[in-house]
Amino acid sequence: MDNFINQDYIKNLIKETEQASYDDIEKVLDKASLKKGLSHEDVAILINIKDKKQLERLHQISFDLKKTIYGDRVVLFAPLYLSNYCVNNCTYCGFKHTNNIERYRLSLEEVAKEVKALEKIGHKRLAIEIGEDPINCDIDYVCDVIKTIYASGDIRRVNVNIAATTVEDYRRLSEAEIGTYILFQETYDYDKYKELHGNSLKGDYNRQLYAHHKAIQGGVDDVGGGVLFGLSDDYRFDLIALMIHDEELLKEFGVEFHTISFPRIKPAEGVDLNTYNTIDDETFMKIVSIVRVAKPLVGMIVSTRESHDMRMRLINQGISQISANSVTSVGGYEDAEHSMSQFELEDDLNLLDTMKDLIKHGNLPSYCTACYRMGRTGQEFHDQVESLKIAEMCHPNAILTCLEYALDSKDQEFYDLAYPFLLDQINKIKNESIKAKVQQFFNRIENGERDLYV
Ligand SMILES: C[S@@+](CC[C@H](N)C(=O)[O-])C[C@H]1O[C@@H](n2cnc3c(N)ncnc32)[C@H](O)[C@@H]1O
Ligand code: SF4
Repeated sequence: MDNFINQDYIKNLIKETEQASYDDIEKVLDKASLKKGLSHEDVAILINIKDKKQLERLHQISFDLKKTIYGDRVVLFAPLYLSNYCVNNCTYCGFKHTNNIERYRLSLEEVAKEVKALEKIGHKRLAIEIGEDPINCDIDYVCDVIKTIYASGDIRRVNVNIAATTVEDYRRLSEAEIGTYILFQETYDYDKYKELHGNSLKGDYNRQLYAHHKAIQGGVDDVGGGVLFGLSDDYRFDLIALMIHDEELLKEFGVEFHTISFPRIKPAEGVDLNTYNTIDDETFMKIVSIVRVAKPLVGMIVSTRESHDMRMRLINQGISQISANSVTSVGGYEDAEHSMSQFELEDDLNLLDTMKDLIKHGNLPSYCTACYRMGRTGQEFHDQVESLKIAEMCHPNAILTCLEYALDSKDQEFYDLAYPFLLDQINKIKNESIKAKVQQFFNRIENGERDLYV
């Protein structure tokens, strides 16, 4: 098996660093506090933090770093499930082939209805999700769906989480103007991967591993990765491998993962969680903080798989994007009874209450999609984030999109909460000419205009 994830190398690195001393860890924390990121070797040392004070220091550094790079912003999105047909048999998933569930694929008319329901809730950014089925759910269908979604008007960014495919298919997705192409390796442990996926299409480890390479070769600028925590017998292996994957993309293409997602395995139809190696909350928070300090520029995503309290805590640890008001069944926004969910969710708060709680915790909810529509993607995005220039634009755009939501939701309580908060946020803008522009756009949005961004 020829690829950039050397299984023995990672196992040895884990062994070698297992005995890292207090001082070794302290040195890596000093490096982390410079906010320039860490190598996978540093991450291998950091994983060994046990001392309570050092753990607190790690969380404090990740909190400071998040505030420096992302400010108070938290980007929101919703998943949209299109089809639960699946030829694979991933042992952990409710959509697996051997599960005897009703299979369904939305027609384009039904997609338009789902999108209307999502727009009514207030969503502007979607991530489309499908099982893998080359016959029942091919790339033509996916491209038609994307066209349908954009044609509906209010949805401004469509990210795509579909099975690994060919450079040609990725080119089609790129031409359809997707945002980020997201795919999880699930686990980087080769033997475990084979055990969980068997002889299916997804069972091809290298097909999964090189999907992001192919997507970039096909013209997709932004790619997202992740692992499903709870699959590997040793989460340290997956964490180090994820860092190596990111380094590989940087070396090959000059761009890192645009986003890294942090899913933990959840109960699902035909899935016995007792047979998995679930990880506890404290370890999960440690993982999130380590990735934040290792990859200061990456967007970090947590979904409604996590409880609301956990999500609010993780935002402080470095998470910059969350889904909200989600359903994981096909057609579930329009009709809650439509079909079975892929897995269980812990945070069932609606979007309005999620937005209220974000603001109460001092977070600025954002529906900004300006970067990708202004061509600030891939390398260009990476350079701008690095120079901190991007924050000068993201922050104002977050304010403007949150104002849109405050006006359009027609919820007086939210408006009363958001309005003074947003004025405060405008006062935080240091660049006077941007501040003046935002004030002007703010007034225009109050007077009925929409979709104004810097
Ligand atoms: C709907 S799949 C979408 C894309 C495609 N079918 C694939 O497998 O890459 C999205 C993700 O759901 C996650 N997932 C599957 N079963 C899960 C479970 N029981 N708990 C939490 N996440 C799960 C997997 O990590 C998978 O990558
Ligand atoms: S994780 Fe994806 S590929 Fe695997 S069974 Fe579920 S939907 Fe199918």
